[in-house]
Amino acid sequence: MASLTIRKLDEGVKTYLRLRSAKNHRSVEEEVRVILRELIEGREEPLTPFSAPPAPSTAPTPQRTGAVPEASVTLIIGGGIAAYKSLDLIRRLKERRIEVRCVLTKAAQQFVTPLAVSALSHERVYTDLFDPQSEFDAGHIRLARDCDLIVVAPATADLMAKMANGHADDLASAILLATNRKVLLAPAMNPLMWTNAATRRNVTQLQRDGVVLIGPNSGEMAETGEAGVGRMSEAIEIASAAERLLRPPVPKPLAGKRVLITAGPTHEPIDPVRYIANRSSGKQGFAIAAAAQAAGAEVILVSGPVDLDDPTGVTVKHVESARQMLEQVQAALPADIAIFAAAVADWRVANEGEQKLKKTSAGMPPLQLVENPDILATIAKLTDKRPPLVIGFAAETEHLIDNAKSKLARKGCDWIVANDVSPATGVMGGDRNTVHLISRKNGEKDGEIAVDSWPVMTKEQVAIELVAHVAKSVSGKSVEPAS
Ligand SMILES: Cc1cc2nc3c(=O)[nH]c(=O)nc-3n(C[C@H](O)[C@H](O)[C@H](O)COP(=O)(O)O)c2cc1C
Repeated sequence: MASLTIRKLDEGVKTYLRLRSAKNHRSVEEEVRVILRELIEGREEPLTPFSAPPAPSTAPTPQRTGAVPEASVTLIIGGGIAAYKSLDLIRRLKERRIEVRCVLTKAAQQFVTPLAVSALSHERVYTDLFDPQSEFDAGHIRLARDCDLIVVAPATADLMAKMANGHADDLASAILLATNRKVLLAPAMNPLMWTNAATRRNVTQLQRDGVVLIGPNSGEMAETGEAGVGRMSEAIEIASAAERLLRPPVPKPLAGKRVLITAGPTHEPIDPVRYIANRSSGKQGFAIAAAAQAAGAEVILVSGPVDLDDPTGVTVKHVESARQMLEQVQAALPADIAIFAAAVADWRVANEGEQKLKKTSAGMPPLQLVENPDILATIAKLTDKRPPLVIGFAAETEHLIDNAKSKLARKGCDWIVANDVSPATGVMGGDRNTVHLISRKNGEKDGEIAVDSWPVMTKEQVAIELVAHVAKSVSGKSVEPAS
């Protein structure tokens, strides 16, 4: 196995590793192991080490995809009858896309075999602190830290006593002393052991130390026929508690808000088979809709023709032309926030043919263009039902900031998200975007115009950032729900 000398790496890589390991509370060596594991598992995390730390995310919990684990747990199985339930716990964790590496105490091996645990976890099982095979690179430290959470189930009275007093004379207690991860204990013991003053003291101490306990439940004791408090929580309860610690509920800063979003191009018909269009893919507007929905908003997305799946949990109105888009936008009011990300055609054909235009010897038929309704200005200038926050997009190919500033004043909206859509940027149809948020200082109607330029980001990141700004701006202000 090759070893890596961090000292010999490029300065840039070293800085990246230091920042990332500090952020994740790991040593640099551990961070390298995690990065390698993520690479091997195909887990992709954008490498943006030198940018400012991201704003509090309103992003949705990542979707579970494929069979790639999204988190990992070191499961310590103690020596109690309830150890058999830990076999089910392994399965429950794995079905939640949580990778499980198991450690068995000496006593635990009297109740379940390493072979059964290994077969269920599809991983090597660890039993011995002085195992030359895993200790060649301090295996107990790896088990303590190369995971997102440590679960002890069953947590015996003995293991809890050792933990409360900082013992480290076997693999399980050494891991528990060496970890900087959250620890979840599922105690299981005879009711008299549980109520014993020594156990009470240990439980209090462990809770003070930040350890989380699930259970024990009350009920019959399998081994004695006695009843009382001491039964280990069911595997499904422990797995849910682990999941709550690993994936804390996402904050919903837009809960109770109604957000109207437009996206995509419009198609302006020339005749029944031909139309005028633009290169908008709808990706940015769809990403904003998904981010707003994940932030708890009720989202209505009015979309021109796009090749994208409707975002989950969003009401989508599909339209073709600018006039249809305006109709649907008006029908969706009132809203707390309106974000107009669609690339609406400025003009449509005045003399739209009812039949397919034919080639004639007279040459090309003249196309008369007339102006389309200005959806952003129409809604921003409403006196009745104007959403309290109206945001427009400005797609420009030159004089980006100047044009966006004058658009803000001309259209009467509150913010403009300006982006350069020159072909060289690859923004139109691409996955990344570089935007500038143009707004009035302190939100005052005639206040000085402020320009906030964001670094290049994916369209999803732009959406999350924009939704975070929106949430901050509208917190506490709400319109009456739509009838
Ligand atoms: C049949 C049997 C069942 C046991 N069940 C429990 C139990 O449920 N909880 C407990 O704390 N100890 C129980 N013990 C005692 C532990 O196995 C003993 O304290 C052991 O040293 C624990 O080791 P460990 O904490 O390293 O796993 C049991 C012992 C036996 C013989």
